[in-house]
Amino acid sequence: MNAVFLLNTGYLIPLLGFGTYQITGPEKIYNVLDYALNAGYRHIDSAIVYRNEAEIGNALKTLLPKYNLKREDIFITTKIVPSSKHSEQDVENLVKDSLRNLQTNYIDLFLIHWPGASGLQPGDPKNKKQRLLTWKILTKFKKEGLLRSAGVSNFLIKHLEELVDDPEYETPAVNQVEWHPRNHNSTLLDYCREKGIFLQAYSSLGTSGSSSLREDSTVRQIAQKLGKSSTQVLLRWAYQQNIGILPKASSRAHIEENIDLDFVIPDEDMKTLSDLKVKQKFAWDPTVVA
Ligand SMILES: NC(=O)c1ccc[n+]([C@@H]2O[C@H](COP(=O)([O-])OP(=O)(O)OC[C@H]3O[C@@H](n4cnc5c(N)ncnc54)[C@H](OP(=O)(O)O)[C@@H]3O)[C@@H](O)[C@H]2O)c1
Ligand SMILES: *[C@@H]1O[C@H](CO)[C@@H](O)[C@H](O)[C@H]1NC(C)=O
Repeated sequence: MNAVFLLNTGYLIPLLGFGTYQITGPEKIYNVLDYALNAGYRHIDSAIVYRNEAEIGNALKTLLPKYNLKREDIFITTKIVPSSKHSEQDVENLVKDSLRNLQTNYIDLFLIHWPGASGLQPGDPKNKKQRLLTWKILTKFKKEGLLRSAGVSNFLIKHLEELVDDPEYETPAVNQVEWHPRNHNSTLLDYCREKGIFLQAYSSLGTSGSSSLREDSTVRQIAQKLGKSSTQVLLRWAYQQNIGILPKASSRAHIEENIDLDFVIPDEDMKTLSDLKVKQKFAWDPTVVA
């Protein structure tokens, strides 16, 4: 489970990462990262809005030496949501805050969390101006080495094209999107692959707020046939397609189960999963963002 993908920036990203949305508090963060590093995870997914960067930074100060790891042995991702109020200086300050909170002199991957800017209506054309301003600062810091790679999240093709088609901007290294058998889009995947953008799946397990995807009867049948859990099948489905996965889990048992993906889903079952009749989107929908 240590497969890596070569990003368009020349850096390697582990396909598997540990999702930390809704995990907060020093003790909880310490414990889950302790279980995750012990199990073999080497990639942690955070965001400014998760309010856990400082706790992650503190925990790693103790945990990296505990597992005999150096900073370069792990991959840290965080994200910034654009805002109508942000000046270039504000974005710079926020990136520096993340570096300070994570107690590191570089961040492996910094994402624009969402194409829209907080404080604006989704249809407002100023959204574009704010995300481009944010992108400009992320790529500037990347050139300075404070960020190794920069990317985006929740971007549709129309949002990606603004960066890909304009020589003034760099092509993102990553697009992190909601992606599971009930919500995936081959047009977006093909576009990303053609442009050299690594696709990362989030909410592969259907979020913490719902168990309906993990209880999907088709997923369950395939899991039973393969002698695996539904969760493992959902994760392996994406992983087997060379798509990044970021399972979030709280218990040691779940964390260990989610890295135990060394099995193969036969082609016919991959197709059945990809063709699920039930469509369901759990998280925010960027189609309305101008
Ligand atoms: N860029 C974005 O806009 C965005 C949006 C959403 C998520 N994300 C990222 O993606 C990560 C994952 O997505 P998510 O937080 O929505 O959740 P998720 O990974 O889809 O699902 C988490 C839920 O699955 C449960 N679970 C985990 N392993 C399990 C197992 N082996 N057996 C049974 N249940 C299991 C967890 O339970 P327990 O916690 O009780 O173990 C939790 O309730 C986030 O943490 C975040 O890092 C990014
Ligand atoms: C997939 O994405 C394409 C391009 O953005 C879009 O035209 C199409 O409607 C999407 N398909 C689904 C099923 O959402």
